Amino acid sequence: MNNIIEKVRKFVEDECRKPTSKYGFEPYEYHFAQVVRHAKQLAKEFGADEEIVEIAGWLHDIGSIMIGRVDHHLTGAKIAGEKLQEFGYPVEKIALVKNCILHHRGSQKMELETLEEQILAEADAMSAFDNIVGVFKAALVYENLTQGEALKSVSKKLESKWNQLKFEKTKEIIRPKYEAFKILFEK
Ligand SMILES: [Fe+2]
Repeated sequence: MNNIIEKVRKFVEDECRKPTSKYGFEPYEYHFAQVVRHAKQLAKEFGADEEIVEIAGWLHDIGSIMIGRVDHHLTGAKIAGEKLQEFGYPVEKIALVKNCILHHRGSQKMELETLEEQILAEADAMSAFDNIVGVFKAALVYENLTQGEALKSVSKKLESKWNQLKFEKTKEIIRPKYEAFKILFEK
């Protein structure tokens, strides 16, 4: 087991377990772990740096957990930089991880510069389809929407996640779930 990855994973797990975690412990299992799983698979497939995408996958939403959703790409990159420095991770690799975190939000319309950044953004968009219950929970519980509003909001969100997918390979993997969602929830 790679020590730095284990340290990072444990840091994220511990933060998600704290009562101060903005979204409780669930994102650890249902979001972070899924993003890491997809990111590693894509890194293998496309020959990207697996260590960078795995570390970025664990840390990409840490700002959201520790501080809140607003600007979590900025707060997350800062927290990740400090933590990785504390763990003695090389400076040039920290910069690569931070860029993945800074650029992971599909909604922010930023240029993705490296393959590792593209992979993290892709894995993040894919993970919404692994956890549709979680997307509904965000709408119903955290945003306090009515059922009708939540349905509209979730449909819009999944449509946008689908449109963020860039690789043919990932579209192939996600397409059945995207189409099933449309059959189940759209009139
Ligand atoms: Fe995410």
